[in-house]
Amino acid sequence: MSAKTILITGVSRGLGRAMAEEFIRDGHIVFGCGRSSSAIEELRKVFGKPHGFDVVDVASDGSVKAWAARLLKSHGPPDLLLNNAALINKNAPLWKVPADEFDRVMDVNIKGVANVIRHFTPAMIEKGRGVIVNFSSGWGRSTDAEVAPYCATKWAIEGLTQALAQEFPGGMAAIPLNPGVINTDMLQSCFGGSASSYPTADQWAKRAVPFLLGLGPKHNGQPMTVS
Ligand SMILES: NC(=O)c1ccc[n+]([C@@H]2O[C@H](COP(=O)([O-])OP(=O)(O)OC[C@H]3O[C@@H](n4cnc5c(N)ncnc54)[C@H](OP(=O)(O)O)[C@@H]3O)[C@@H](O)[C@H]2O)c1
Repeated sequence: MSAKTILITGVSRGLGRAMAEEFIRDGHIVFGCGRSSSAIEELRKVFGKPHGFDVVDVASDGSVKAWAARLLKSHGPPDLLLNNAALINKNAPLWKVPADEFDRVMDVNIKGVANVIRHFTPAMIEKGRGVIVNFSSGWGRSTDAEVAPYCATKWAIEGLTQALAQEFPGGMAAIPLNPGVINTDMLQSCFGGSASSYPTADQWAKRAVPFLLGLGPKHNGQPMTVS
C-alpha cells in the first residue's frame, strides 16, 4: 500500500497517540495536534520529519485555521482525517455539571470537530478525495447516567457526520466511528478502576489502524464500529 497522509487531532496521548505510532510503523505520514506542549515536543523528538506535530487547541477556530493553512500549503490535503480529540465531563448528574465544564465539552467535542472540518475539507473536496472519520462512542448510540454532556456531544457527532456525508461529492466519505472500549485516561475518568480490564490503546491501535485504512467512499455516512 502506498504511503497515505493521515491527520489526527488529539495525538498527544490515548487513542490518538497509539494510532500515530501504528500508522508511522506502517509507513504512513502523520500530522497531529494536541494541547500539551511537552507531549507534542516529545512526539517531534521521537518521530521527526516528514511527520509533524503541533500544539493546537481544536476549540479555537483561529488556531485550527492557521494550522490548516500551513499544513495544506506544505503537504496538501490529508487522505484520512481523524477527528479524535475530545473531553469527557467528570462523572456527575447533569444538574451538577458546572456551566464552564459543560461548555468546554461542547466546545471541544462538537465545535472542535466543526472547526477542523471547516478548514481542511475545502481542499479535500477540491481534490475530490479523502475520508473523514469523526470519533463517536458507544455513548453516541446509547446513554448512561453521569455522562450526559459527553453523550450529547457524541449523539451530535453521529448526526453532524451523517449530514456531512450527504453534502460530500462522490469519491469522499464522512464516517462516525465508535472505537470500542479502551483503557485510556478518558475511560479511567468514567469507569474508574474497572478501566484496567479493557485493552490498552496500543493493543487497540493494531486492530484499528488496518480497519481505518480500509475505509473509503463506499462507507460514506455509515456508522462504523472497530470490532
Ligand atoms: N477510550 C475509550 O474507551 C473511548 C470510547 C468511546 C469513544 N472514545 C473516543 O475516542 C477519542 C479518543 O479518546 P481517548 O480515550 O484517547 O481520550 P484521552 O485519553 O482523554 O485523549 C484525548 C486526546 O485529545 C486531546 N485533546 C483534548 N482536548 C483537546 C483540544 N481542545 N484540542 C486538541 N486536542 C485535545 C488530548 O490531548 P491534550 O490534553 O494534550 O490536548 C488527548 O491527546 C475521543 O473522541 C473519545 O470520545 C474513546
